Amino acid sequence: MQLESLTIINYKNIREGNLRLSPNINCFLGDNGMGKTNFLDTIYYLSFCKSHSNSIDSQNILHGEEFFMISGEYNRMDTPESIYCAMKRRQKKQFRRNKKEYDRLSDHIGLLPLVMVSPDDAILIDGGSDERRKFIDGVISQYNKTYLQYLMNYNNLLKQRNALLKEDSQQDSSIYDILEEQLDAIGNYIHSERVRFISDFIPVFQHFYTIISNDSEKVDLIYSSQYNEQPSLVEKLKATRDRDKLIGFTTSGIHKDELEMLLEDHPIKRIGSQGQNKTYLVSLKFAQFEFLKKIHGFKPILLLDDIFDKLDAKRVAKIVSLVSSDLFGQIFITDTNREHLDSILSELEHEALIFTVKEGVATQVGLL
Ligand SMILES: Nc1ncnc2c1ncn2[C@@H]1O[C@H](COP(=O)(O)OP(=O)(O)OP(=O)(O)O)[C@@H](O)[C@H]1O
Ligand SMILES: [Mg+2]
Repeated sequence: MQLESLTIINYKNIREGNLRLSPNINCFLGDNGMGKTNFLDTIYYLSFCKSHSNSIDSQNILHGEEFFMISGEYNRMDTPESIYCAMKRRQKKQFRRNKKEYDRLSDHIGLLPLVMVSPDDAILIDGGSDERRKFIDGVISQYNKTYLQYLMNYNNLLKQRNALLKEDSQQDSSIYDILEEQLDAIGNYIHSERVRFISDFIPVFQHFYTIISNDSEKVDLIYSSQYNEQPSLVEKLKATRDRDKLIGFTTSGIHKDELEMLLEDHPIKRIGSQGQNKTYLVSLKFAQFEFLKKIHGFKPILLLDDIFDKLDAKRVAKIVSLVSSDLFGQIFITDTNREHLDSILSELEHEALIFTVKEGVATQVGLL
């Protein structure tokens, strides 16, 4: 799948952008704060109906302006797809596929699979367990609509139970019974999908880590869930009502699941060096890419934002040879350093485009 052209008006610091893109590698080169990541963010937006870095849409409008617009022309399995998004201050955003407005934005998720490797990924290691669940859920939701729907249902039910826990009045226990049975049924489905996904995902992740680190470290992922020990949480939910009431939220369920990230059998959070963390994150994202490629039957778009930061020359070389290979399709890459890009481009057989980015303006400077 390829994004053939991109038109942008008033998105963050990009006042106007009109880019014709390469089906292979597209590079955005420029100094800090110039808008390289913002260009990648517009492409992310067209796949996920939201910014990667700022979920408050009005803050993505160029300061002092009233709206932003992003549109992209894609070639998806030899079929053209035209995606359009416009957002005016204080109005609902418009999102259209081939001029037709979506009823629900969630219908669009998965149409244009995309993987982004970004410095913000560090939160997967440093952040709370919700970040790692979001990662798992994000990948599964891109190919399983039922999962996405069930996840939304689960979160709604959870909100209802939590609201009930906070009420002072004496409640009818049958309301709890109904909510808990539904939470358990949906939770069970989500758990089994997570188990299936993670067992397929681990070997792919380990494969990439081995390549990039030149087989110098052992990594693993362990999915822990209350459902691993018991097939139903109905009894547990019932038994913990009083305790949950004291705390003010529900303490059992798939919203407590964890994905443990291990390096040499220890949590990477505690022992990983900066370069090891980066290798871990890049491997997770490359595995996500492989996974989506297999599910969709075509190559997702790959966004590589500042990917070489913190890595030694050997690991950079491994990544360069990976991204220059046939494993990946259309790639968008940002860097402040021309040398990395030149080393990628020198290994490439296909054409590549270079844009320099200065104060929100991208100028095509080369075709290799
Ligand atoms: N809504 C907005 N209106 C105007 N400018 C904005 C808006 N949101 C962000 N910016 C500007 O965008 C710039 C950041 O752009 P971006 O993150 O793309 O930089 P970059 O080229 O990727 O830099 P780095 O190399 O440091 O990662 C900042 O100067 C910021 O002030
Ligand atoms: Mg950036």
